[in-house]
Amino acid sequence: MSSKQCDNKKSCSGVWCRFRDSTPDYLARHYWWAYLWHWGVWFFDHQPIINAILFGQYKTLSHRALHDCMKERPEGRMLQLTCAYGSMTPSLLKEMDDELYLMDVADIQLTATRKKLSDVDKKRLLCARMNAEHLAYGDNVFATVLIFFLLHELPPYAREHSISEAIRVLRPGGRFVITEYGACPKKHLLWRFPPTRWVLQRLEPFLESFWQLDLMAMLEEYAQKQGKVIRQVDEFHCFSGFYRVCIFELDDP
Ligand SMILES: C[S@@+](CC[C@H](N)C(=O)[O-])C[C@H]1O[C@@H](n2cnc3c(N)ncnc32)[C@H](O)[C@@H]1O
Repeated sequence: MSSKQCDNKKSCSGVWCRFRDSTPDYLARHYWWAYLWHWGVWFFDHQPIINAILFGQYKTLSHRALHDCMKERPEGRMLQLTCAYGSMTPSLLKEMDDELYLMDVADIQLTATRKKLSDVDKKRLLCARMNAEHLAYGDNVFATVLIFFLLHELPPYAREHSISEAIRVLRPGGRFVITEYGACPKKHLLWRFPPTRWVLQRLEPFLESFWQLDLMAMLEEYAQKQGKVIRQVDEFHCFSGFYRVCIFELDDP
């Protein structure tokens, strides 16, 4: 499914190898404990835990992302690009009266998200298992796409493919909301304090490359390749710029 799977299954060793069936190699190798292992999923999907991981900023960030998705929402379908721990999906469904599309490469994540919903809301959540690098949706079918803390977890090639795919499925006039780490936080205490920087970089092996990325330039590049024009319409920062919520829109032709 991913573009870079472990080539030799027999020679693979380590706990992560148990998790690599049909999941991208990087996800099994670096994040099995957080997203694929049932005890990990159970542990992390608690509000205090997810809030602690985001240094107390979960509520601020999720409220802002929700607001940015829903305020004068462009008419049409909404896609949440991969599951997220916490209350993001239930909150989105509460705010809308139509269906929410949700995809993720891990069955265990889709199942955990569905468990958080009432029976009525379950019917409005259209879940599909797929890789963000190769979406099985048509071109221009969504009016809103939300990504909540996915991009920094992807290696650069997967990040590029996923961004390109998100732009492909978003219709002209549509809105793209990205909640993520801010740009490289060289002045932030967490970055300047070597132990916290070390822990962050150990737990998030692709964060460094995300910090170096010019997100707007990358979005423009992939939009342009598809004959689309993307503009940033808003950017919210919190925790001294450590995190951000960005809104982009595709120009109408
Ligand atoms: C959205 S991100 C992280 C969210 C954040 N840490 C949180 O929970 O608030 C994690 C999700 O992305 C999924 N994921 C990672 N790589 C993926 C890919 N290439 N395609 C689809 N889902 C992917 C994982 O299975 C996991 O459910």
